[in-house]
Order: sequence, then C-alpha cells, then structure tokens
Amino acid sequence: MSRYPFPSYPRGWFALALSHELAGRPGEPAAEGAATVLTRRAFGRDIVLFRGADGTAHALDAYCPHLGAHLGKGGCVVDGALRCTFHGIRFDGEGNCVSIPHVTKVPPGMKAKAWQVREVDGILVVWFDPAGEPPSFEVPSYFDQRGEPEKWAPMQWHTWEKLHAHPQETSENSVDLAHFETVHGYAGVDIVDPIDITGDTLRISYRMKRGLDNLGMPGQSVESVFKVRVHGLGYSVVEVETPTFGTEFRTYVLCTPIDEETVILRGGGTMKMLPDPNMNQLVNGLFFKGFVHDVEQDFHIWENKAYFDRPVLAANDGPIGPYRKWCRQFYAYSAEAAE
Ligand code: FES
Ligand SMILES: [Fe+2]
Repeated sequence: MSRYPFPSYPRGWFALALSHELAGRPGEPAAEGAATVLTRRAFGRDIVLFRGADGTAHALDAYCPHLGAHLGKGGCVVDGALRCTFHGIRFDGEGNCVSIPHVTKVPPGMKAKAWQVREVDGILVVWFDPAGEPPSFEVPSYFDQRGEPEKWAPMQWHTWEKLHAHPQETSENSVDLAHFETVHGYAGVDIVDPIDITGDTLRISYRMKRGLDNLGMPGQSVESVFKVRVHGLGYSVVEVETPTFGTEFRTYVLCTPIDEETVILRGGGTMKMLPDPNMNQLVNGLFFKGFVHDVEQDFHIWENKAYFDRPVLAANDGPIGPYRKWCRQFYAYSAEAAE
C-alpha cells in the first residue's frame, strides 16, 4: 500500500541539476566536475541533460529510441546534438533525430521524448506532467525580480540524496508553524502576512526569534522575518530578513521525487552583500551552515511519519488545511479535475 493517499509525482517544475553541473555554456569555462551529459533519476526514470550549441539546456528520456542504449552512458554532444554511443545516431534538444550514420532518410518515430527545461537562478528544472501536458505555470527568477544580481553572494548548495519522503510533506513545513519551536528551537512565532494562494504560488510570512547562544551571546535572541514563496511542490524560496543585523538571505529548497519512495533535496542559499566586505564570508558561511542544520532537523520526522488525511489540528498549527487544499491542483491530471 502506498504511504500517501496521493500520487508520488505531482505536476510541476522539479530540479534535476544545478547549472554549474552541466558543461557547455558558450564562452564559459566548465566548472570543476561539470559533465557534458548528465544522467539524473526522477519520476521513476532516467533523464539525460545536455546543452545545445547556444548553451540552452535540454533533457531527453535516457533510452535511445533506436535500440535502447542509455544516452547518458557513453553518449556525447556533437554540434549541439546528443550522439548515442551505440550506432552514432544524433538527437537535438527536442528529441528529433538529426543524423543517422550512412543513412539519409530518418524513419518516422525515430524521436526521443524531450522534457521542458528551464534554467532559473542557477537551477535546471524540468516540467513533469503525467499526461504530458505543457507547463501551466513558470518558476520566477528571484535574481531578476530583485535586480542587482551582483549584490548577492554566489549561491551555495547542499544536496541530500534519497530521503524517504514526498514533496508535499517536505513543503508542508513552510506552513507548519508549531514545529518551528519544537524541532528548530525558534520562539515567538507570529504571522506577518497570512497565507495567500494565487494559482500555483503559495505565499506566507512570519516572524520568529532565535537564541544567539551559539554565536557567543547567551540569553540573547534576534528576530527575523521569513517570507515564504512556494511555486508548486518542487520549488520553494524563503527570504529571511534580520533587521538587527541588517542581513538579507535567500534560500531555495528543491524537492524532486526520484521514485515512489524517495526524494532528493537540494538546498541553496545566498546573502545580500554587506557594507563591510570583510564580513561577507563569515556571515554568509554561518547563515548557510545554520540553514543546512535546520533542514536536516526535519529529516527524522519526514522519514518516519505517517500522512493523515484528516489530522486533528490545534489552534497554533498554521494553515495546514488551506495548504493541503492548494496541493490538490498538482495531482489534477486533467483540466476538469483542476477545478
Ligand atoms: S541504440 Fe542509440 S543509436 Fe542505436
Ligand atoms: Fe522544518
């Protein structure tokens, strides 16, 4: 029996890789460890990523439509197309066959399944819809929205592989106000802007206080405002402002289902540069360490909990009911079911 009363793979945008992991951006040296063809497991299948001649990222189903070789195992990029290692057939980013060695006529059906890809804020996301429908929403670039990308520190990332969880359960954290005290040690949790639901996007903001014992200030605490933006179940962004310190951080939490049991979680963070450049590295490092620590505190809950469709809620729980109702649209696999 499934652990959850909803499908394992919600409709939406899900991260498959970070931009720097995929080589081939024109004019840019490949980052250390970057690959020209990346294989990623998601939604119970293998997907391969590569860049076309102009650097645009593409994603194809891993198995070559010819005789089934794995395009990520020995495949390479030639003139912006992905070349299968078995018989040398090449496919473009839309999955169209562009050449077959010694053959001029491409047989009908020689086409690989292509996935819609977007590259946003250094993240490569693909659109998943079980019925193969095109994207019904987009994920915004926060760097573009907020402007002045050069005023933000380079993104830092941490990846947690193979968690026994579901994207709906990990995202539910954003509205589970009571757990911030018991699991994460915050105090004074209070809503600033109540939950606001607009189509695919859920917004909420709250303030919380955190003790500064680990910064050598026992008995003192500082208040931060957390602005949460959830864009479907695979893509959450939290902006954290701490007026006392004059700091602004932004974190990304990206949850991608690998198969019916497990997810991979990517956490990213950046900080608006401080007036004193000497402080940037220290403060950003401390913040990101704290963020990674906070995320990890939830793991033993997610991995072991049950999902109750009709939970018994208490007054301080936060808008869990409206969140779950919002989630339903991502399992609506046809227009009429989407309400
Ligand atoms: S299996 Fe890919 S070219 Fe033949
Ligand atoms: Fe949490």
